[in-house]
Amino acid sequence: MRSFPAVTIAPARRLHGRLRVPGDKSIAHRYAILAALADGRSSLANYAPGADCRSTLAVLRRLGVEEVEGPAGMVTVLGRGFGRLCSPSAPLDAGNSGTTMRLMAGVLAGHPFSSTMVGDASLSRRPMRRVIAPLEQMGARIESVDGHAPLTIEGSALHAIAHEPSVPSAQVKSAVLLAGLHADGTTRVTEPASTRDHTERAVRAFGGEVASDGLTVSIRGGQRLAGQSLTVPGDFSSAAFWLAAAAALPGSRVTIEDVGLNPTRSALLDVLRRFGARVDAVVTATEAFEPRGTVTVEGDRTGAIEIAPDEVPGLIDELPAIAALAAHGGQVTVRGAAELRVKESDRIAALVAGFRALGIDADERPDGFVVRGPSSTRPTGGVADARGDHRMAMAFAIAALGAERSSTISGADAVVISYPGFFETLDRLVAPFDGIGEL
Ligand code: S3P
Repeated sequence: MRSFPAVTIAPARRLHGRLRVPGDKSIAHRYAILAALADGRSSLANYAPGADCRSTLAVLRRLGVEEVEGPAGMVTVLGRGFGRLCSPSAPLDAGNSGTTMRLMAGVLAGHPFSSTMVGDASLSRRPMRRVIAPLEQMGARIESVDGHAPLTIEGSALHAIAHEPSVPSAQVKSAVLLAGLHADGTTRVTEPASTRDHTERAVRAFGGEVASDGLTVSIRGGQRLAGQSLTVPGDFSSAAFWLAAAAALPGSRVTIEDVGLNPTRSALLDVLRRFGARVDAVVTATEAFEPRGTVTVEGDRTGAIEIAPDEVPGLIDELPAIAALAAHGGQVTVRGAAELRVKESDRIAALVAGFRALGIDADERPDGFVVRGPSSTRPTGGVADARGDHRMAMAFAIAALGAERSSTISGADAVVISYPGFFETLDRLVAPFDGIGEL
């Protein structure tokens, strides 16, 4: 990401509204990839509109997959069938998307041609050995720049492995499972802690079999998948910013409809309750094994909460929104979250620097951070730099709502990665703070 236009955030008193959020980024990547590997046509409704999921479609197109984008987020994919992706004539550009690069590395490892995956500056700094090592153990050869992209993948006939990743990562688990789908035998992944299970649910939705037993997931190679008509639920990680904002600004009430409520993604709801918000979540349907429903959050009290290391895998993408909780009052302490340092930015450093720039008391720890919200005055506001990271831009916008005066978020255009209409929706939800009355 290059150009960083700034957005001004005016102080707000509270948020009110009922809305839907864009389609889930994690689920959309998986549906597109599995649709490409399946036999027949798939229709994917409410496909995630962000740049990351566009990157996955662009990569698949270069591998010979025909795909048509219709109105209102409908994507039709003509599956090529098992092992039938075509050798690409140019590098495959994953843009800013770690999920595209890591999951597609798993798929390409099992195809008998050479391909190169590239990414933007941020993605080229992110650790790839975590997928290179198991995929090489399965029989692929992968060249990298000291464990970073570009990755040149020499795919081949793969054999099953039993893999125990040292970090809990759904991307690593998924890369190995997707390679396992192309391998001889049954591949097993045993995680150090459970992570989002969208790949497992999506493979089943496409007619495949995946067994889950505690922290171990296994998949048999050579299974054929069948094209499906599926609807992607709203992205819980995008909803998280509105839910956190509503919890942080007492008197707010926000309802999000048709949002994904997979239990491996929705641990934030309990965090908001611990903070002092009233939270109501109802599953209204389960489609393709993914529960979805309506969530309402009402801001009430602001409290002091701690996020313990064992909670981190279930909250990994929500930690920026959780940090913003305390920007308006209360306190948030996060431990055991060193993984945040290898996301789209070093999210620990970026969060603390951005919050301090907004006049909010925040401290870095090697594996986390502390945000101490103001108790009687509002923070001054200021200029916070999102460092090209979509979730930083959204966290700073929510934090800035509690300030005394208008703030500027530079690099705010990074929201296109997961939530292109974020700032327009923010305008619709806020009631302005006019400086009169109680905070
Ligand atoms: C994702 C997994 C997580 C998450 C990322 C999306 C996925 O990354 O942070 O935004 O779709 O599998 P890790 O697997 O690196 O923890």
